[in-house]
Amino acid sequence: MQTKIVQPTKEGIQQAAQLLKQGELVGMPTETVYGLAASAYDPAAIKKIFQAKGRPQDNPLIVHISNLEMLQPLVTAVPEPAKKLAEQFWPGPLTMIFPKSEKVPMEVTAGMETVAIRFPSHPVAQAIIRESSLPLAAPSANLSGKPSPTTAQHVWEDMDGKIPLIVDGGECQVGVESTVVLVKEDCLHLLRPGAVTPEMLKTCCDQVEIDPAVLHQLKEGAQAASPGMKYKHYSPKADVTILSGNLAQFKEYVNSHWDSATYALVFDGEQQGIACPCLTYGADAAEQAKELFAVLRRLDGLGAKKVYARCPEKQGMGLAVYNRLIRAAGFQVIPLEDARM
Ligand code: TXA
Ligand code: MG
Repeated sequence: MQTKIVQPTKEGIQQAAQLLKQGELVGMPTETVYGLAASAYDPAAIKKIFQAKGRPQDNPLIVHISNLEMLQPLVTAVPEPAKKLAEQFWPGPLTMIFPKSEKVPMEVTAGMETVAIRFPSHPVAQAIIRESSLPLAAPSANLSGKPSPTTAQHVWEDMDGKIPLIVDGGECQVGVESTVVLVKEDCLHLLRPGAVTPEMLKTCCDQVEIDPAVLHQLKEGAQAASPGMKYKHYSPKADVTILSGNLAQFKEYVNSHWDSATYALVFDGEQQGIACPCLTYGADAAEQAKELFAVLRRLDGLGAKKVYARCPEKQGMGLAVYNRLIRAAGFQVIPLEDARM
């Protein structure tokens, strides 16, 4: 199959909508990362998503809508805090999990009785949903285990020959996937951190619980509240280790441990005085989120074997960056704070 990249012109959007109605897959820009979209009502199309990505069968998909009226037929209840969250953060990088209606095929939810719903703010995503008149199931458009795509080119690298069309909406503004919350009547359970931070969630509900899988590796055999969180994920080919501690400690460690295939992954402006080649990404947490997945792909392209990475902040938007990087590192963290070197 030949994979075409089109611009989001009227014709481009119509072409995408037509393919989706015919049960095909389309690479679609959103404000977070590119999605691999299919009709949420078409089980055969959903199966193609799992095939194209090599996605584990037990990992459910997010359903994308382009207005609030599309929510009702997909769910059986909307808990009170969800109404506030929708008002505050939709359209935007927030996914909410609801009890699913019978209209949502089990293929979408991987057998779960709940369904994840997101109303993206990207005008091209909204236009494609509107033009197709369909709710669209869409995971990130990467091969399973690779960093999520933040440009049409990234989607092409992973999906060339597997899908008919990618709509190019430019670089994604947020850069990490949406915040995922399970909404209950009196509490929010944060399953995946994103641009809607825990602090922002607290403005809609006093009780916000952060799932243990956000920060830590689940024990062997433990049940994940969000199946996606149990996989290594976002994994570059290199062996990544996070060094926690300050910049001086980072430099001292790297300068005494690097060899010819080692790269340092540091924040903007920090490369001075590091002996091995460096890649930088972002000065603040929002920029780091935007650039993280592209820099992980660049490390692959450079053939990096060993990467020492600076540790992102664990609050605000930094929590989302940390959550992705620690998975790229297979949870390898060396604490330098009180280490004697
Ligand atoms: O920003 C995003 O959310 C992007 C764009 C394309 O919208 N999509 C995305 O989808 O990141 P995906 O499939 O890569 O991640 C969906 C996450 C997975 O961790 C999955 O396990 C979780 O959401 N999820 C989906 N449905 C769920 C459910 N019913 N219960 C718990 N977790 C669910
Ligand atoms: Mg994904």
